[in-house]
Amino acid sequence: MESIWTAETEIRRREPLEGDLETSAVVIGAGLAGILTAYYLEQAGVPTVVLEADRMGRGQTKNTTAKITSQHGLVYDRLVQAFGHGMAKHYAQANEAAIKEYGRLISELEIDCDFVRCPAYLYSQEDAGLLKQEAETARKLGIMASFDTSSELPFSVAGAMKFENQARFQPLKFLEKIGEKVTVYEETKALKVERNQVMTDKGQVTAEYIVFASHFPFTNLPGYYFARMYQERSYVVALEGAGPLEGMYLGIDPGGLSFRPQGNLLLLGGGSHRTGLNKGGGKYEMLRSKAAGLYPGCQELAHWAAQDCVTLDGIPYIGRFSRREPNWYVATGFGKWGMTSAMASAHILTDLITEQDCPEADIFSPQRPFTAQAAKELAIHSGHTMKGLAKHVLPAGKGKVIPNCPHMGCRLEWNSDEDSYDCPCHGSRFDQEGRLLDGPAQTDCQRRKEFK
Ligand code: FES
Repeated sequence: MESIWTAETEIRRREPLEGDLETSAVVIGAGLAGILTAYYLEQAGVPTVVLEADRMGRGQTKNTTAKITSQHGLVYDRLVQAFGHGMAKHYAQANEAAIKEYGRLISELEIDCDFVRCPAYLYSQEDAGLLKQEAETARKLGIMASFDTSSELPFSVAGAMKFENQARFQPLKFLEKIGEKVTVYEETKALKVERNQVMTDKGQVTAEYIVFASHFPFTNLPGYYFARMYQERSYVVALEGAGPLEGMYLGIDPGGLSFRPQGNLLLLGGGSHRTGLNKGGGKYEMLRSKAAGLYPGCQELAHWAAQDCVTLDGIPYIGRFSRREPNWYVATGFGKWGMTSAMASAHILTDLITEQDCPEADIFSPQRPFTAQAAKELAIHSGHTMKGLAKHVLPAGKGKVIPNCPHMGCRLEWNSDEDSYDCPCHGSRFDQEGRLLDGPAQTDCQRRKEFK
């Protein structure tokens, strides 16, 4: 089912690329990160075009819950431990600046996109200690954070940590208006990138700077993003009659839920899992059962799922794609925090490309120091990949689709909540007919001869 954003927003269709083109910068991917990067590059005097394989905003931007916040789970204490106060502060500053910039831009361009300032909370029903500690660290990094033992949620909490002055909006209404300010070629699929050229199915684009903003980079080498990133899915139900809520909430306990108001609706989210590991299904049913318990009589108006790229240390990769290709840039690995990360990417990449000073770039650099947490996650990620690869030799069942992933060959797993084949290695997804839904794979699955 489609998200409430998609249901109420029609984005104007753009023509595909016709033949070859030369420009200063080309951005691959017309989601929020790609469009904002192109917008700020143009503002800085760098002629830029955007290539989109499908339609603008039809990737992950349409499935977000659109929380504009610097509160990204329990991140700050961990960042200080791993990278020190200075780099942790850069993370806080980049995200707080992103919130302010949304407000400024929306007001300057008079964009009607349901932008509302509101607080964001992390809550726990079990243990307040981590939240108290996180609030203290966040305050030291310059964020207006506080701790309380009560909340407006319909259950008691052990503690809640509040960030002031965060925001929410309707992401596709915003994207539609910003998208009018940039040149986008839709239904133009980037197939290959070589030095300063992007080969597409419609022509070739030559540019000094190339930005990969296509959610998960489809190029395996250089960069090795497939080895240092995986994808997660999470689920949302939009409820009517669930009562008013001022703030946005995320639970930090195992199985914790997300609450986010939108007009007279409440978006209730949860059920996160590594993409490719949801054979048993039941995620929507779990959310429906929680909704019925918390808000008796509420009505479900929509349900959908989001797909997020997760890096080994949980921090996005924003910056130079690889040391080997100094004019390639990347914005990926936003986790569940695509709104502020998209705006932070746009600013960091614009500063790097125009050679401006950008102290915040250090914490997001894809070439940043490798931490102990990253090493641990790498071992887990490699384990999943080895298992997925090993399984591809097992009998492939009798369905229409040969369930081996065209990206690197891992055995796909059935996702019964969404009737899709999902890859546990790097998160590519395919529908029941084997058609590609999400990369990094670039092609459909093979179908059995008898079903072709
Ligand atoms: Fe990489 Fe499937 S997404 S093998």
